[in-house]
Amino acid sequence: MTTAVLGLQWGDEGKGKVVDLLAKKADYVVRFHGGNNAGHTVVIGDKKYFFHLIPSGVFNKKTIGIIGTGVIVDPEVLIGEIQTLEKEGIALKNKLFISPRCHLILSYHKALDHAYEKMRGKNSLGTTGRGIGPCFADKVSYNGIRIYELVNWPDFEDKFEFQVGIKNKILKSLDLETISVKTELSKYKKLAKLLAPYITDTFEMINTAHAKHASVLFEGAHGTMLDVDWSPYPFSTGSNTLTGAINAGTGLPAGTIDKVVGIVKAYTSRVGSGPLPTEITTSLAEAIREKGHEYGTTTGRPRRIGWIDLESVHFSCQINSVTEIVLTKLDVLSGLPSVTICTGYEYKGKKIAYSACGYNELARLKPVYKTYKGWKEDISAIKQFDKLPKTCQEYVRAIESFLQVPIKLISVGPERSANINL
Ligand code: GDP
Ligand code: IMO
Ligand code: MG
Repeated sequence: MTTAVLGLQWGDEGKGKVVDLLAKKADYVVRFHGGNNAGHTVVIGDKKYFFHLIPSGVFNKKTIGIIGTGVIVDPEVLIGEIQTLEKEGIALKNKLFISPRCHLILSYHKALDHAYEKMRGKNSLGTTGRGIGPCFADKVSYNGIRIYELVNWPDFEDKFEFQVGIKNKILKSLDLETISVKTELSKYKKLAKLLAPYITDTFEMINTAHAKHASVLFEGAHGTMLDVDWSPYPFSTGSNTLTGAINAGTGLPAGTIDKVVGIVKAYTSRVGSGPLPTEITTSLAEAIREKGHEYGTTTGRPRRIGWIDLESVHFSCQINSVTEIVLTKLDVLSGLPSVTICTGYEYKGKKIAYSACGYNELARLKPVYKTYKGWKEDISAIKQFDKLPKTCQEYVRAIESFLQVPIKLISVGPERSANINL
């Protein structure tokens, strides 16, 4: 069984929690795109763990973690994450495997990410500053350096020095601090040694596992609305975030995903700039942000808040072939007098589909809303759907009937046990 777990909104839908839950039955958990701009949270007991590169399923004893070819890897961050988990008693040798084809996020990518954002001034995109865009740009302009080179040291040295030469010219022209080849090389040489034991042919590993009918879980790194092709570009991240990216990002043949679990938050959040059609601009946004602890897992920035946007979620279900939905953070909406669903978009007086919207349309359209009665009760300890307040049940059923995809699980708290199975 191969299962993809994908966020269907602008990120932070609760992918980490769901991947950890589903990993109980998985032999492998695989990341296939993105980088350490991802921030996935797993709560176990009174401890919170944050994953940026390592797949969120590794707490389960038998589950092997794989970082596939489509992921871009900052070796400093990865080694830091490995060491943090090891301190918590999770040994990752022979439990975590990384593709040598992954491109590296290097010091100059982070410097350029900050430089471009600074140059954009009031039009900045609000990137995570992790060097994502510049690294993907180098990959497709044949200027990238991969883990393969890092673990074949002299190759890395030559390529790094050449790239620093180019990047320093850009940094200098912007009056920014340049990169020291000597200092950086000595840092990366140490990191190369630490990374080497984890590098393997992940193509072979994943395909063998699949042939043996192992249970493989693919962990989406970012929401569908941040996909580089299908978001309101340039308010995007640098990778394709879709089911379709699993093939390129892991080497598993196309058409082999059995189940696609779409994660949908009961409302919407987003960090960074760009259009958010259902954004709440009253003090209600602040109240939801505080109750839902909506602050970026990677950057700590306050997340913008909106009502659930079913026009875009419907698009996400379609493009990803979502077979079932997990609805998260329903508990956060308890206590509101009413709850609102966006059922479509109107632009210049006419109905418009998400797929037909570019930046201009998405920034200016009028969401069509339907409002439902809220519920007062705290629902975070409820384990059965029919024990939820009637108005809460109606809200969930309205979402399901609009999307025409079954909701199989409702998450009502960050803890592993705070779930309602349907
Ligand atoms: P991800 O990037 O999709 O993995 O999501 P994040 O971890 O960045 O953000 C989700 C946040 O909500 C984390 O702090 C989770 O611990 C928390 N969370 C997940 N599910 C629920 C839920 O059902 N209710 C509440 N209140 N919090 C949740
Ligand atoms: P998780 O895994 C929320 C957003 C950034 C910014 C845009 C581009 O936690 O769901 P980048 O650094 O990728 O070049 O920034 O993408 N972004 C995310 N927003 N959650 C994420 O990941 C995100 N990863 C990138 O805020 O708007
Ligand atoms: Mg997150």
